[in-house]
Amino acid sequence: MAVLVTGGAGYIGSHTCLELLQAGCDIVVIDNFMNSSVEVVHRIRKLSGENFQFYNMNLLDRDHLEQIFQKNKIEACIHFAGVKAVGESVRFPLLYYKQNLFSTINLCRVMQKYGVKNLIFSSSATVYGSPEKSPITEDHVLHATNPYGRTKWMIEELLKDLSLSDQDWSITILRYFNPIGAHESGEIGEDPKGMPNNLMPFVTRVAAGEYPMLEIFGDQYPTKDGTCIRDYIHVVDLACGHLKALEKTISARGVDIYNLGTGQGYSVLELVNTFEAVTGMEIPYQISKPRAGDVAICYADVTKAERELGWRAVRGIEEMCRDSWNWQSKNPIGYCSEVKTL
Ligand code: WQD
Repeated sequence: MAVLVTGGAGYIGSHTCLELLQAGCDIVVIDNFMNSSVEVVHRIRKLSGENFQFYNMNLLDRDHLEQIFQKNKIEACIHFAGVKAVGESVRFPLLYYKQNLFSTINLCRVMQKYGVKNLIFSSSATVYGSPEKSPITEDHVLHATNPYGRTKWMIEELLKDLSLSDQDWSITILRYFNPIGAHESGEIGEDPKGMPNNLMPFVTRVAAGEYPMLEIFGDQYPTKDGTCIRDYIHVVDLACGHLKALEKTISARGVDIYNLGTGQGYSVLELVNTFEAVTGMEIPYQISKPRAGDVAICYADVTKAERELGWRAVRGIEEMCRDSWNWQSKNPIGYCSEVKTL
């Protein structure tokens, strides 16, 4: 029996595929390469020493998706596939609603048709909007503040309704905080197309000399040094959290929701200073005006995942910085190496 991984060539998806393979799982991977590259598939195979079925397809193509369920004995699905840039979602909301919602509905309908009712959904701390307090627990009020966050919140509600309609479904919703870092090999990592939206890929590209300096979006927030605080989590810890969630999903019923963070907040300046100390690279920066939609403080309460999944993050901020830089140093142009056939 195999685990279907949608978006498995993406940043978190690729790291999760590697952990699944190394844990002895059979996987079937789907990706449309909107935010990734075929090179990732080659590297997962090389790192794991394992082969696996890969399909370059879009989840909006229901006929093709059905063929995959006909050809493979699938036991569970980890659903990463989707578009995820906050700023882009404000500019192109219809793209985000169509891609994220319709692909999830297609997936659930085909899963239901083939009797596959174990699902792990990739959600985000963005559903908490501007949190009233941190650490944030899973029962915090939900209040997405952008179309991307609203698609995640709507899909969570859709999945709860699906579970109410059919008690056989076992659905685990994982709310990620701020994933950074890369596999220790430096073979897979975060490779945003174009100018990065997120902090760490921008920092590593400043360190690599691609950009002259980092803009820090505001230093007048009510925090220790005036810059925003976030819960950065190593992407490998995040991947390992999915394996624990899979174990639970296969044996449970109903819907469970978990924060996947470290429970520790770091400010932007703390992250930059740690990166400089760990790598020896200088990160010139200038303070600019606050970014619309940013919240001052956001970090997770992770006690539920520890108690019910037997999981917690083990990699610290230094390791996150070291592994991010290792990936950047080894892949100065990301995955844009020569495109190979599958
Ligand atoms: C972190 C901090 C910025 C870039 C986003 C999404 C969220 C999730 C994770 C998908 C903030 C500051 C950033 C820069 C900066 N993605 N910053 N200069 O905004 O917490 O969360 O990514 O699920 O949905 O909202 O992460 O990395 O963009 O920003 O000063 O060039 O770094 O202001 O305080 P964020 P981020």
